[in-house]
Amino acid sequence: MDNAIYKSRRINLSETLPKNSVLLIPGANTQYRNADSAYAFRQDSNFYYLSGFCEPDSLMAIINNDDGINSVIFVPPKDKLKEIWDGHRSGPIGAVKEFLFDKAYDNSEIDNMMPEILLGCDQVLYPIGKKNGFDQKVIDWTTEASSKDRHSKSINILDASSTIGNARLIKDDHEINLIKKACDISAEAHIEAMKNVKNAESEQSIESLYVYEFSKRGGRFPAYTPIVAGGENACVLHYIENNKKLNKNELLLVDAGCEYEMYASDITRTYPISGKFSKEQLEIYKIVLDAMNAAIDKVKDGNNIMEPQQISEKIITNGLVELGLLHGDPEDLHKKGAFKDFYMHKIGHWLGLDVHDAGDYMEGDDFMKFKPGMITTIEPGIYISRSMDVDDKWKGIGIRIEDDILVTKDGNENLTKKVPSDPVEIESLMS
Ligand code: GLY
Ligand code: MN
Ligand code: MN
Repeated sequence: MDNAIYKSRRINLSETLPKNSVLLIPGANTQYRNADSAYAFRQDSNFYYLSGFCEPDSLMAIINNDDGINSVIFVPPKDKLKEIWDGHRSGPIGAVKEFLFDKAYDNSEIDNMMPEILLGCDQVLYPIGKKNGFDQKVIDWTTEASSKDRHSKSINILDASSTIGNARLIKDDHEINLIKKACDISAEAHIEAMKNVKNAESEQSIESLYVYEFSKRGGRFPAYTPIVAGGENACVLHYIENNKKLNKNELLLVDAGCEYEMYASDITRTYPISGKFSKEQLEIYKIVLDAMNAAIDKVKDGNNIMEPQQISEKIITNGLVELGLLHGDPEDLHKKGAFKDFYMHKIGHWLGLDVHDAGDYMEGDDFMKFKPGMITTIEPGIYISRSMDVDDKWKGIGIRIEDDILVTKDGNENLTKKVPSDPVEIESLMS
């Protein structure tokens, strides 16, 4: 991949920075599961977006001052022995040559050099509160910079989360292609799971099927811990135990998407373990599907993000009234939020490098409006746990359907429609 794309993102972002400011983006560190067992390294998404650089313990500074705009990166130094154990390092020379930074230094120089870099600037911007220990580092560097020149103005510290998040909100063609690939892989894994669930004994075996189907297509890691929830477990929204036996007469809700070349996909399907929906399961399913289709239609340039939300709430409220699960006038019930006992989460979220991607949901006092290049999930659900005060026949049904929707110039594109959500198509795929 041509690293010029990351450089052009740095330039585009720096054009939105205040004059005489420094933007700092820390990279990720190696994370450990226990003792010295390391997870495979995953770069911080902001850092990756602006660099393409995937080595731990790095830091980037974009400086906008009288000398123009300069990008500086601190990286792990070349080290023969460490490279034997852990693999190739670019080092500062490689960071300039391959990753097109103006300057690069050993990361052991960060504490020495950062006060110098901040000296005389008016503002330092970085994503506040996102990385353990980094807030204190920035305070220490600015304090030291100010003490070097007591007669200068003080340095303001500003949060850069929205600045960089909103840049990430509009995906470029390179990103859209990677997300499409991630979505295709995840859709294929869901299709394989639907075909095989009848023979599966446990949630865990289905989870491993997804991870295998992702990985063999190039999506080595899930973009988030999959939710593989049989029956009532689907009513635990973040159920990740994934270790119970499957019961033939129940539904299976699987919320699973792979990460492909750093980009996430996020798909949920709910399907009958036996291959056939029961009457009650199908009645609830159809409400969720109607809400889903109507919400997707509202994802278009110029609409605000509450439009899919509201239509999904209304359709779910009406449907629950028709089935006798809510009682009263649907409009009143919607205003009162009665649906929240059954549909307690929001319709979706931005998708990109992170599954819950960066980017604001408000523009000033208004809700964000959809624009071409944004990608949102649409994921309505109805969850009826056994503790709810409803007719027994509904208990234990938990259904969510989730697709990933790209806003285009003339509407939208459903990136995950390859995996069926229509119940007739699901049953035929499973037969
Ligand atoms: N898979 C996480 C979510 O749907 O938000
Ligand atoms: Mn989601
Ligand atoms: Mn999901």
